[in-house]
Amino acid sequence: MEKETNSTAACATEKQKNTFSGNIGYVLAVAGSAVGLGNIWRFPYLAAKYGGGIFLLVYLILMLTFGYAMIVSETAIGRMTGKSPVGAFSSLGSKKWLTFGGWINAVIPMLILPYYSVIGGWVVKYCVEYLRGQSSEMAGDGFFGEFISNSFAAEICFVVFILAAFFVIIAGVKNGIENVSKIIMPLLIVLAVITAGYSVTRPGALEGVKYFLVPNFSDFSIMTVVAAMGQMFYSLSLAMGILVTYGSYLKKDSDIEKNTTRVEWFDTGIAILAGLMIIPAVFAFTGGDIKTLKAGPSLMFITLPKVFDSMGFGNIIGSVFFLMVLFAALTSAISLFETCTATITEELGLNRTGSSLIVLIVSLLLGTASVFGYGVWSYVKIFGMQILDFFDFLTNSLMMPVSAFFICILVINVIGFDGISREVKLSSAFRRQPMYYVVTKYIAPFFLMIILASSIANALGFITI
Ligand code: PHE
Repeated sequence: MEKETNSTAACATEKQKNTFSGNIGYVLAVAGSAVGLGNIWRFPYLAAKYGGGIFLLVYLILMLTFGYAMIVSETAIGRMTGKSPVGAFSSLGSKKWLTFGGWINAVIPMLILPYYSVIGGWVVKYCVEYLRGQSSEMAGDGFFGEFISNSFAAEICFVVFILAAFFVIIAGVKNGIENVSKIIMPLLIVLAVITAGYSVTRPGALEGVKYFLVPNFSDFSIMTVVAAMGQMFYSLSLAMGILVTYGSYLKKDSDIEKNTTRVEWFDTGIAILAGLMIIPAVFAFTGGDIKTLKAGPSLMFITLPKVFDSMGFGNIIGSVFFLMVLFAALTSAISLFETCTATITEELGLNRTGSSLIVLIVSLLLGTASVFGYGVWSYVKIFGMQILDFFDFLTNSLMMPVSAFFICILVINVIGFDGISREVKLSSAFRRQPMYYVVTKYIAPFFLMIILASSIANALGFITI
């Protein structure tokens, strides 16, 4: 008992040191988590596939309703309890489902971090090669395939990336996460505007801009909604314990509602800029062939280098673009790392360095499996998927809707709307409260089950997302 009291006290002191200094630091750190590979690589490809302008419109509506409600819930839960997901859920009651709800939120980032860092490693490789002036080599067929199947090279890049995240975590919330985000995020906006400006002014690019921005209602299908919803969760880092953890570092006088709005628009703004960077450029390159845009994972690593090389200044624009992707991916990885570290610190009572070492070791093991899955272990398939793809599917398509569902139930049945609204109103006007209530109670649980069902149907081959 005494030991427990001591470790709780240690945690409390640790937490006092570890808060964000103010709104700007907090917003940039949350935006840093939200803006990542999801915005730059996944969003443009999905937008192209699911109807361009109509996808964008559906995404915006979902972000302003559903996304808003989820961010507010998670942040308020974190700030109210002062804990990361496991502690937050269990401090609100002792029922078994609460413990499960907390753990599923906490385990997701531990499973995402390793494979996300493997992709981060690919981005490191692309940065280095562009900076070395290898644009035309990278535009050649087979460059990407050869690189990822070379397990040794891919492993080194992965280790470099994960170690960079590790050192920021060791430095702490304010010195590490906040300071890094304050430098990287503004730089990222500048790089995004330069690349988007360059892309939309290419000859033939205007058609692509139109396709991406103007909704065409005949392109609408129910899959547009399902895809936009999944993307929104991923892009805003929802239901992964991250916002609960960051909320626990938030001061009571920070305006949750205003900060949520800022984060939403920051994240969506970068996604739109990424759409403007990639879609018009590929349109110009292929003469408007939508099929190329639907290439998915290979769009950023295979098609884009060809586009850059064909445009002239390939090395410069490639370096700028991949440097930006690297920054975006790094701040997201940092948020994943932080959430895992916070959970271990709280649950096992270890200090920050010890906890982050554990996260590092687990990530190295799981990440190495993902690296080898494309190389020396390429014969290993889980449900027909390669190891990295399997981790992605498991976390984003199966676990994420379940974990979000638990958050809604926690708000509806345990904390209650009055409890949440009291917490939010400590520092905000909470103008969208009626909408928050309707979305969380009636719309979210239903939609989440639809996402889960459609993901399972997709994995079993009944439908194609
Ligand atoms: N939101 C990040 C992105 O858009 C991805 C991410 C997901 C980060 C989950 C943290 C947690 O890339």
